Amino acid sequence: MLMKRPLLFSALVLTAAVLGLAGCQKTATDEIAVGEFASLTGKEATFGISSHEGTVLAVEEINAAGGVLGKKFKLLTEDNQSKAGESANAVNKLIAKDGVIAILGEVASSRSLEAAPICQSNKTPQISPSSTNPKVTETGDYIFRVCFIDPFQGTVMANFAKKTLKAQKVAVFTDVKSDYSKGLAKFFKEGFLKAGGQIVAELDYNGGDKDFKGQLTAIKSANPDGVFVPGYYTDAALICIQAKEVGLTVPMFGGDGWESDKLTEIGKEAVEGNYFSTHYSPDAGGEKGKAFVEAYKKRYKGKLPDAMAALGYDSALILADAIQRAGSTDGDKVRAMLAATKDFDAVTGKITINGQRDADKAAVILKVKDGKFAYVETVAP
Ligand code: PHE
Repeated sequence: MLMKRPLLFSALVLTAAVLGLAGCQKTATDEIAVGEFASLTGKEATFGISSHEGTVLAVEEINAAGGVLGKKFKLLTEDNQSKAGESANAVNKLIAKDGVIAILGEVASSRSLEAAPICQSNKTPQISPSSTNPKVTETGDYIFRVCFIDPFQGTVMANFAKKTLKAQKVAVFTDVKSDYSKGLAKFFKEGFLKAGGQIVAELDYNGGDKDFKGQLTAIKSANPDGVFVPGYYTDAALICIQAKEVGLTVPMFGGDGWESDKLTEIGKEAVEGNYFSTHYSPDAGGEKGKAFVEAYKKRYKGKLPDAMAALGYDSALILADAIQRAGSTDGDKVRAMLAATKDFDAVTGKITINGQRDADKAAVILKVKDGKFAYVETVAP
């Protein structure tokens, strides 16, 4: 008995010392470790790269201004390679090994949804910059976003199709592998029917498919005035190309998932004249927006920021603001202050976190014109 105690005791001390050391190597005590997970490579790489670039710019600006609570932000970023399963790994590592106090990410709703239960059960606040599926923040009270949600985005595009495109009969082509696509398709349909339109065909694909001609031929025979494609840019570009090939020449339109330089790079003239809704346009910002465009261009070799970049930037600023008001990095205190965010002057507009931990914000509609995205209009919530 007498022997056991010291042994157990020294084992505990040793474990504590090892854990302590491992912790110290990661983040100095005068730093605040913030985790980010993003699709830096793989199918939706442009989403992750843009979002990451915006986030990095915000962190650099926060740190240049002295940090938060006298400490610098240390951003620890994990790449999920746009693959299912990897976001859970990334977030588990960031929380358990790196000891981050909050998580920023992701763009794609399915990947935010993979991380959210882990953040919730660890009481680690998660802020998704740009995932729009309602289920993301429904996961629990530690999960936030700084963008609007798809019931709004779907309604915006339904009204746009009905009023501006003057479409009466519309087909919907959904990626059944994506929570985002399924949700946006549903909310669009509800909005379009409510506006007095008809849904004449509903077809499915799996994200990453290469051949869409069978479904597009079926859509063509339903004779729609337009096709709503709530998917991501690579698939959307191929769908627009193959639509032309099967003789389907009506307007195609989508949501924020279309936003990438790759849409025009892949789709070329097949995507010209089409429309999509998103969160932000560098052409439509106020004072704060203009300063952001300049800073971003300077930091990234003249590149123009897109919606993901702007929202990534805003997500880091919202976190810094909440920590400042909490006076602490304690998960529960930061969570409470995130929930109390009101009228924060962000690049993508004023951000107030509502009772569902979402942001009520305007959407913008862009048109593909000469290989670029031209600002069409802003739609208030
Ligand atoms: N809203 C999309 C989703 O939830 C992701 C996205 C955001 C794509 C912003 C482009 C721009 O999956």
